[in-house]
Amino acid sequence: MKTMTCIEDLRQTARRKVPRAFFEYADGGAYAEQTLRANRADLARLNLRQRILLDVAGRKLDTAILGEPASLPLALAPIGLCGMQHGDGEILACRAAQAAGIPFTLSTMSICSIEDVAAAVDRPFWFQLYVMKDRGFIRELIERATAAKCSALVLTVDLQILGQRHRDIKNGMTVPPELRLSNLLDIATKPAWALSVMRGKRKTFGNIAGHIKGMENVNELSQWIGGQFDPTLSWKDVEWIAGLWKGKLILKGILDVEDARMAARTGAAALVVSNHGGRQLDGAPSSISMLPKIAEAVGSDIEILFDGGVRSGQDVFRALALGARACLSGRAYIYGLGAGGEAGVARAIEIMRNELDVTMALTGVKTVGEIGRENLAAM
Ligand code: GLV
Repeated sequence: MKTMTCIEDLRQTARRKVPRAFFEYADGGAYAEQTLRANRADLARLNLRQRILLDVAGRKLDTAILGEPASLPLALAPIGLCGMQHGDGEILACRAAQAAGIPFTLSTMSICSIEDVAAAVDRPFWFQLYVMKDRGFIRELIERATAAKCSALVLTVDLQILGQRHRDIKNGMTVPPELRLSNLLDIATKPAWALSVMRGKRKTFGNIAGHIKGMENVNELSQWIGGQFDPTLSWKDVEWIAGLWKGKLILKGILDVEDARMAARTGAAALVVSNHGGRQLDGAPSSISMLPKIAEAVGSDIEILFDGGVRSGQDVFRALALGARACLSGRAYIYGLGAGGEAGVARAIEIMRNELDVTMALTGVKTVGEIGRENLAAM
């Protein structure tokens, strides 16, 4: 893992090790992938202000996220199907995050269930919720997250309908993969992956299988999920969920100042400035381009988290400079997971931690709380 010097190294390794359908599911975005690219390009455009001859010994990267201590301003974002990047992927990623002292978010669309992960780790994690049409099931999921002592509920609010991802359709991306000759040939060239997934606890959507009557078969389950995204979702549902969930609530998928104002009024603890990693509305602005406006409008009322294109400690620094308290990282750790399981996720976090540390030193900053706009170079 030591020769993996940046997230792109992990990505290239994951690309070799993980079947194409699952690698591309995580790697890709919606439609022409314009927003996916803009997320990265707009971050890269933000130059950092180099400072010299300032005493930068004893730098501190720790912070608080939702009032809880974190060893750096980073959390692992909810990603569906981690267990298809590597067997038991959710458990491995959660362990790596907790060992590093940062939050892990389990997706509703995970392979390992809430209970599987809770039994395998010794500290609380965050749970991400999709509100589906079957509200009884949603109530149950919230109860299960409460019973598992999840420390925050991350409510995804930008997926009332799924943005089309061309690559998933072309690859027959289902769980388990569609039995096409091309998929079988691809899997045959990835024996280590096949072994890890075979040995994993589960091979289907762990939070859903066994909880919906008559939906034991994976194909039925995938169809059920596809029909469950709810176009009627509204702020009333957020209120309903806030009433059921007694813990901290995070609203993920805010990209508009008006929506941010509404989010701040719900009493949620935090919002995530996000366009779902360029996987939903293609043509939407990059997350980083919207962050300063949202932080300015509601930053004093609600904690601001950020995701969208974060692949380095420099990117974390840029988001903090523009008003985020912390970043969520999705693909960066998924590449680590595909490349090397728990050690790969640990390496992804370590890479970003080291990059953030060196970036702070070379910009003359000693604590993450000090990072501000003045640390960006004037354009
Ligand atoms: C689900 O959240 C996805 O983006 O695939």
